[in-house]
Amino acid sequence: MADPWTVLVTGCSSGIGLRLAVQLAQDPGQRYQVVATMRDLQKREKLEQAAGAALGRTLSIRRLDVCSDASVAECLGGLPERRVDVLVNNAGVGHIGPIESISIAEMKRVFETNFFGAVRMVQAVLPDMKRRQSGHIVVMSSVMGLQGIVFNDVYAASKFAMEGFCESLAVQLLQFHVFVSLVEPGPVNTDFELKLMEDVSRSEFPGTDPATLRYFQEVYLPASREIFSTMGQSPEAVAKAVVQVIGAGRPPFRTLTNPLYTPLTALKYADPSGEMSVRTYHNLLFNYGALFHLSMRALRCLTCQCFRRRVAPA
Ligand SMILES: NC(=O)c1ccc[n+]([C@@H]2O[C@H](COP(=O)([O-])OP(=O)(O)OC[C@H]3O[C@@H](n4cnc5c(N)ncnc54)[C@H](OP(=O)(O)O)[C@@H]3O)[C@@H](O)[C@H]2O)c1
Repeated sequence: MADPWTVLVTGCSSGIGLRLAVQLAQDPGQRYQVVATMRDLQKREKLEQAAGAALGRTLSIRRLDVCSDASVAECLGGLPERRVDVLVNNAGVGHIGPIESISIAEMKRVFETNFFGAVRMVQAVLPDMKRRQSGHIVVMSSVMGLQGIVFNDVYAASKFAMEGFCESLAVQLLQFHVFVSLVEPGPVNTDFELKLMEDVSRSEFPGTDPATLRYFQEVYLPASREIFSTMGQSPEAVAKAVVQVIGAGRPPFRTLTNPLYTPLTALKYADPSGEMSVRTYHNLLFNYGALFHLSMRALRCLTCQCFRRRVAPA
């Protein structure tokens, strides 16, 4: 049997990172040695419990803050020969709100993690991957790396930045047999949304005019909650998609994990002027609210287990 690949995953204290680390570590073919990292080791218990017997065998836990050069160097320096065969840049933070109320410092904080944090990791592993002429860099992007969504301006920009970075890098790295893969989930039911809502509840959105604040609080936020509860995937499902990307002989450059989002992202490419997607999103949110709620309800029905059982009995 070939030596297992060392897979380093960032942001494993919760959500997709935690589920991915566990699925890889419990791989039936034992193809992976997982270095599951998190910035605060006090949060390790949830991962330890989920990993079960894999802990200490195919999964080890290390501290790594993607925003710190020293932390990245310390983590990689602790690995045998600093070897990372597969890097999964999963760590990320969300951000929503009217742009007038967000300080530049706050925007930089989002980019520090979502963009520069991932780039720092790539810079740290790339020289060795190039030297070995093998490796795989997986980046947790988002459908918001392909299509901006209202009131997610800064978060979408950070994911767009990552998409441009990866599109450019992937071409060069093929020369070195190093693959780059972007994974683009839609909404995923993790702590991510909870943290966003906590941030929202703490903010008073200074400098925002009353009409914008009303759109944000009374139109966007309820729609967003509805979208998460209707279209949201489980972190397990997204992790499973990433496991497939990692295990592929020829890894895909892009993977949209939620098929419900394919038509929405296709809109953008169907009309080069961009008018169609801007107007469709505007109409859906502001003019055809009733249609939006109705389609969410229909989707909830169609994707519900009881409907599936009726249509396709076991
Ligand atoms: N949930 C969604 O709807 C969704 C949709 C599309 C894409 N994504 C992307 O998926 C990835 C994972 O998100 P999730 O849904 O699993 O959310 P999550 O449960 O909030 O997980 C985010 C992880 O990133 C970690 N993190 C944040 N800043 C970090 C830093 N400086 N260094 C190291 N780790 C850091 C967090 O650690 P702490 O516990 O210490 O904060 C946590 O472990 C993110 O990149 C996110 O943008 C999420």
